[in-house]
Amino acid sequence: MVGMLAVMMLVVVLTGVTGAIHPPSNVERIDPTTLHLSGEFAESNLGTAQERDGSLTARLVADQYGFVPNCVKVAANTPVKFRLTSTDVVHGFLLPATNVNTMVVPGYVAEVRTRFTRPGIYQMPCNEFCGNGHHGMWTRVSVVAKEQFPALAPTERASCVQQ
Ligand code: CUA
Repeated sequence: MVGMLAVMMLVVVLTGVTGAIHPPSNVERIDPTTLHLSGEFAESNLGTAQERDGSLTARLVADQYGFVPNCVKVAANTPVKFRLTSTDVVHGFLLPATNVNTMVVPGYVAEVRTRFTRPGIYQMPCNEFCGNGHHGMWTRVSVVAKEQFPALAPTERASCVQQ
């Protein structure tokens, strides 16, 4: 019994250190009934924004049954911070083959930091059963080469919904 506990603790520590995998620990509250009216989750602020230090912040709102925006564009080899929240029930945000995996809980802001090593499209089905339409709830993250990103028009940088 003690041996099993020790092995499990070791796995947690090793994956944390080698894969930058860590439990979501960002405790930040937000009012789900008013978040669309103003502040960072107002519609005009959703999608990807560039910070002064060159890193990117992508903001998404999850609700039954979709993510807004449903396609996010980011640059490869650049620090990316995802900030998500939900307006109704618990949803899940997971990008395969990355350290991005978080629950999106109403009333809280989920924050995950990552860095994509190569360009490509990451499909992102909702990863937490959230109701009858759960299977149709998805978004995707389009990662473009770092050199390509600054050449995009501001609207193209914010999201890739129209493409
Ligand atoms: Cu949202 Cu499942």
